[in-house]
Amino acid sequence: MDRIVVLPGDGIGPEVTAQAQRVLEVVCAKHDIKISFEEALIGGASIDAKGSPLTDDVIELCRESRAILLGAVGGPKWDDMPVATRPEKGLLGIRKALGLFANLRPAQVFSALAQASSLRPEVVEGIDMLVVRELTGGIYFGEPRFIDRSGPVRTATNAMVYDENEIARITRVAFEAAGGRRQHVTHVHKANVLEVSQLWMEVVEEVAKGYPNIELAHQLVDSCAMLLVKEPRRFDVIVTGNLFGDILSDQAAMITGSLGMLPSASIAEGGLGLYEPVHGSAPDIAGQDLANPLAAILSGAMMLEHSFSAHDAAGAIRTAVDAVLDAGHRTGDIVLDGENRPTIGCVEMGDRVLEQLECA
Ligand code: IPM
Ligand code: MG
Repeated sequence: MDRIVVLPGDGIGPEVTAQAQRVLEVVCAKHDIKISFEEALIGGASIDAKGSPLTDDVIELCRESRAILLGAVGGPKWDDMPVATRPEKGLLGIRKALGLFANLRPAQVFSALAQASSLRPEVVEGIDMLVVRELTGGIYFGEPRFIDRSGPVRTATNAMVYDENEIARITRVAFEAAGGRRQHVTHVHKANVLEVSQLWMEVVEEVAKGYPNIELAHQLVDSCAMLLVKEPRRFDVIVTGNLFGDILSDQAAMITGSLGMLPSASIAEGGLGLYEPVHGSAPDIAGQDLANPLAAILSGAMMLEHSFSAHDAAGAIRTAVDAVLDAGHRTGDIVLDGENRPTIGCVEMGDRVLEQLECA
């Protein structure tokens, strides 16, 4: 029996993880994968109950489990708290504590939803990229970090720090992933300004020598942002540091038109993985059964693939989700202009996916 820790978190987190959990239960039973679930607190929910966004007992529980399913953290209730104690610190804390250095964010267009993009359908049709973001280093965690209020002028400092080993291991993840895709890696950097990026260039080049069949391109982060909007189909795998990856993965997700559809995985060196939808906690619609659970459900598929090597079971979830979309079922966020159909809620979307799985 493998334990999966569920960290529902805040806002719509509990609603979407509940549906993902139902789907995982059914698909695992069908594929003879023995799992159990245990729920724990993170983010604002943990602040309210325990006074801190992430506690040691939860980190321990996660460490002793096979995989983690996370909903989302944060909300207006905790917005005025200092950076060091906000709900987001729970997410950053668990990434660091568990060494989840490799963040995989696939951005693809679901053909039934190509119209939903703010870009023209002919630009987005066929987008299929994977942003590989370094998740436990860079400016998110660099020291020193402080606001100095002692002088006449307030000053703030953060440091972007990477060592060559951190760069090499995330680069290998990207090249391995490209091997199973379209054999292309784009390294995104700001080497015309930053020393950190110059080191990334060197190390990425060195690692690339071990993958002679994979094509490597280097792209400045600003022009990458531009190309993502202009010609998004040109990208296969993007590898980059924590901050650039944060920004570009939101952009990549949005141009698909389906932010509510996109899953992600964060993987540690020993294979432990945390899986979460790319979307946030959406406090404005929380608790109303309006959220789209498909990103959480697809995060469950990524979990089966990466943490259980259960490719058939993962494929079954993806096929079921495609079928549900093709049948025209829509939550509010993915309803298309001119589509005259009633939208369904979060639970019913879960029901529809389960229906497809049962009849498959
Ligand atoms: C993400 C989020 C987080 C990040 C926030 C919530 C701390 O934006 O997962 O991309 O910046 O990494
Ligand atoms: Mg982000």
